[in-house]
Amino acid sequence: MTIREKLERLQRLRDEAELGGGPERIDAQHKKGKLTARERIDLLVDDGSFVELDRFVTHRSTAFGLDKQRPLGDGVVTGYGRIDGRLVYVFSQDFTVFGGSLAEAHAEKICKIMDLAVRNGAPVLGLNDSGGARIQEGVVSLGGYADIFFRNTRASGVVPQISAILGPCAGGAVYSPAITDFIFMVRGISYMFVTGPNVVKTVTHEDVTSNDLGGADVHGSTSGVAQFVMDSEIECFAEIRRLIGFIPGNNLDSPPVRRSDDPIDRRDEELLEIVPDNTNKPYDMLDVIRRVVDDGELMEVHRDYAANIVVGFARLAGHPVGVVANQPAVLAGVLDIAASLKAARFIRFCDAFNIPLVTFEDVPGFLPGIEQEHGGIIKHGAKLLYAFAEATVPKLTVITRKAYGGAYDVMSSKHLGADYNVAWPTAELAVMGPKGAAQILFKREIASAADPEKKLDELVADYREKLAHPYEAAARGYLDDVIDPRDTRPRLISALQTLLTKRDSAPPKKHGNIPL
Ligand code: HXC
Repeated sequence: MTIREKLERLQRLRDEAELGGGPERIDAQHKKGKLTARERIDLLVDDGSFVELDRFVTHRSTAFGLDKQRPLGDGVVTGYGRIDGRLVYVFSQDFTVFGGSLAEAHAEKICKIMDLAVRNGAPVLGLNDSGGARIQEGVVSLGGYADIFFRNTRASGVVPQISAILGPCAGGAVYSPAITDFIFMVRGISYMFVTGPNVVKTVTHEDVTSNDLGGADVHGSTSGVAQFVMDSEIECFAEIRRLIGFIPGNNLDSPPVRRSDDPIDRRDEELLEIVPDNTNKPYDMLDVIRRVVDDGELMEVHRDYAANIVVGFARLAGHPVGVVANQPAVLAGVLDIAASLKAARFIRFCDAFNIPLVTFEDVPGFLPGIEQEHGGIIKHGAKLLYAFAEATVPKLTVITRKAYGGAYDVMSSKHLGADYNVAWPTAELAVMGPKGAAQILFKREIASAADPEKKLDELVADYREKLAHPYEAAARGYLDDVIDPRDTRPRLISALQTLLTKRDSAPPKKHGNIPL
């Protein structure tokens, strides 16, 4: 055979690999409103940057007639590419080949790029579209999943791992994404469940559709399994690219700095008007955040889950920061189980990947009640406390209004190792709100007063004057300063710049024991 003929053979094999499960199945994929594995990669990485590995890998099984079907690539496209010029490793399951099901060779390909990603310090992006463990290969398929879970866990905190769910994701297939840092789902095509509607019907006699059981909105707003919910695949890939822009390639790198034209000394007059004079009135903390960060850009994580706390990525003077903020516009910004879990996980991601934390605080406390107590608010709230205390990245805190009770301690207080803590003059730092405090402290005086309502009002005013302000905390150095709200951006940037060289480390240990 001449070199030309050998090249033709190579090209033939490449074309065969590109076709996956063949034109009919590609058609069927498109008819479901889904892109193919390769189309997805093209949209995800920089044009022309994808380099495929293992395109000639095939399975080795002979069971159930598999010896007559050995598609090149074995149902997953793997390799590396660039996002804004930065290296990423990618796998994209090909539903047109055995329904994207995972077996020995398919798993080996994924493991290979995960190992490369860890060795070379780059994120792993997994595009999942799979019927789960390949039934014909039996326990070998299960072993393949476990090999991936093992690597997901070992890579956790070393390189960022991002999962997009772009089709069914059942059985063990959900657990690899669940270990990764962020899950994206797309409305109408993404499903995640441990067991599908048929098994649910048999076991619990519940009738439920795939969408109601494990669709994108269910996981984005009810279970909290997915951090991002998108309307289309195109939007999903654009948002993954945006997310990558905030995070470093690995735990030894710094997050990527992006030049911004937003002046570092920009004051904002509107910040004076946001917190209402009536301390019980809500306001939108997003208005505060957007007026402080570069170009008003916040990439919210878990936007539709536990909206009483806001978490997301932003930049200050071009440096990525993780924002954690109580949201007084939802449930008065109270801390409940879901909010604690949401924020704790985000904080731990930021800490693992050297992203400074900026906390905006206005919190009346932990949510009381039987449901919360029986649901374990003690251990879940403790996760948030643990996460803030454990974090050694720069920690900056701005108290805009309420910092009551345990929530004062929890929300990145000085006592938990925060580096720069300031309050606005509207801040109230106290064991509890003025009304509750007055009712407990002066129960008898109020009951015996001629006009109990009037007496309570007087006592509340007195308590507020004496204790519900920032100056007691500032007098003790718990706050580094009380600032003019208009100066929030310049003050945070100035402090952040001093903290970029921060050195702090936890005592050596195998790992802590976060209250799970
Ligand atoms: C082998 C599979 C497969 C599987 C799908 N296919 N799932 N082949 N193993 N697990 C094949 C089908 O035979 C079909 O082949 C093609 O993929 C497309 O499947 P369809 O059923 O035609 O597609 P659709 O109607 O869209 O339904 C998709 C589906 C359904 C919802 C994913 O196929 C399904 O329920 N599959 C089984 C899911 C499952 O129970 N997996 C095991 C989970 S347990 P042809 O040749 O006709 O195109 C598990 C354990 C892991 O994963 C444990 C780790 C802890």
